[in-house]
Amino acid sequence: MLDKRVKPSFIVKYLDQYVIGQEEAKKILAVAVYSHYRKIAKTEQDGVEIAKSNVLLIGPSGSGKTLMCETLSRVLGVPFVTANATSLAQTRFVNDEIEAILQRLLEKAEGNINRAQQGIVFIDEIDKLKAQPDQPRATSGESVQHALLKIMEGAPVKIGDGRFVDTTNMLFICGGAFVGIEDIMAKTHGYGYLSTTAADDAGVLERLNTRVKPTDLFQFGLIPEFTGRLPIIARFQELEKKMLVRILTEPKNSIYNQFREIFRNEGVELNIETKVFGQIADIAIEYHTGARSLRGIFEEMINPVLFAVPDDNEIRRVDIASLFSTPVYTRGPRAG
Ligand SMILES: Nc1ncnc2c1ncn2[C@@H]1O[C@H](COP(=O)(O)OP(=O)(O)O)[C@@H](O)[C@H]1O
Ligand SMILES: [Mg+2]
Repeated sequence: MLDKRVKPSFIVKYLDQYVIGQEEAKKILAVAVYSHYRKIAKTEQDGVEIAKSNVLLIGPSGSGKTLMCETLSRVLGVPFVTANATSLAQTRFVNDEIEAILQRLLEKAEGNINRAQQGIVFIDEIDKLKAQPDQPRATSGESVQHALLKIMEGAPVKIGDGRFVDTTNMLFICGGAFVGIEDIMAKTHGYGYLSTTAADDAGVLERLNTRVKPTDLFQFGLIPEFTGRLPIIARFQELEKKMLVRILTEPKNSIYNQFREIFRNEGVELNIETKVFGQIADIAIEYHTGARSLRGIFEEMINPVLFAVPDDNEIRRVDIASLFSTPVYTRGPRAG
């Protein structure tokens, strides 16, 4: 099913157009999905079942985990759904929820069971399923881990219309922030003594970053059977200011490009100084939601302009030099 051109390097190049940074994670994921779909092809050919490797993405909120999976599914041409482990842990009917997730995947595959069976399911906030000492087992995240384990290993699941969806060839990608995992890693990996200064600490953590082990996840509170099903682990880095600026301007469908297009459709050229993107990034950093708040901050800035422009046919150019100064409108006859 997978196009011959879709090699790991091709996948990374495609991802680069939409996802800024996270180079390590891109490579790990590209190789993982490539191997995954090669395995499926091989199994179909020889009938030899090869155990599959699902993927775990560890990184802060708003660092591009969901975006990356979504973009991956697009380049692969496979259906994609996201689910949230927190909401799975809040329902008493986990299996109904799981069925609903697969139902959505089937809808994404336009009702084609075969296509759905080779889709990607992204389950976010998996770290919220960790064992809580004061929680009864039946309603705990642990029982959700068991339920997820079953479909990750591969099982036929009966969906609403009575048909069965087999999850054997689906790729499951789990995500989570795993706050505190660094402390566990620093302890269990025994590198803590190396550091003498804060800068040293950062350097050590940097090196440890790429090497989260299943045992660390177990220490964190996930059950071993579950961590065993997630042998491939990719880390997403917190996005720094420079990255946030790039996210605003660089991707094909960047926020800036989208709004330039909106203005172009009105016959108006929108020009925003580089400095402004830095100012927006600064505010986003204060919000601690990664790139997630960029759009909201940008829209707040641009809204008054979007309000004013349609009322004035003469405007043909808008210049924004700072987030804290009034936009400058240039008037003249419009082109076209
Ligand atoms: N690395 C990135 N490159 C480009 N855009 C990003 C990146 N990270 C986050 N974004 C933007 O922020 C939004 C939220 O990111 P998301 O992928 O949902 O983060 P996560 O799943 O890690 O919490 C995305 O829709 C995207 O617009
Ligand atoms: Mg997400």
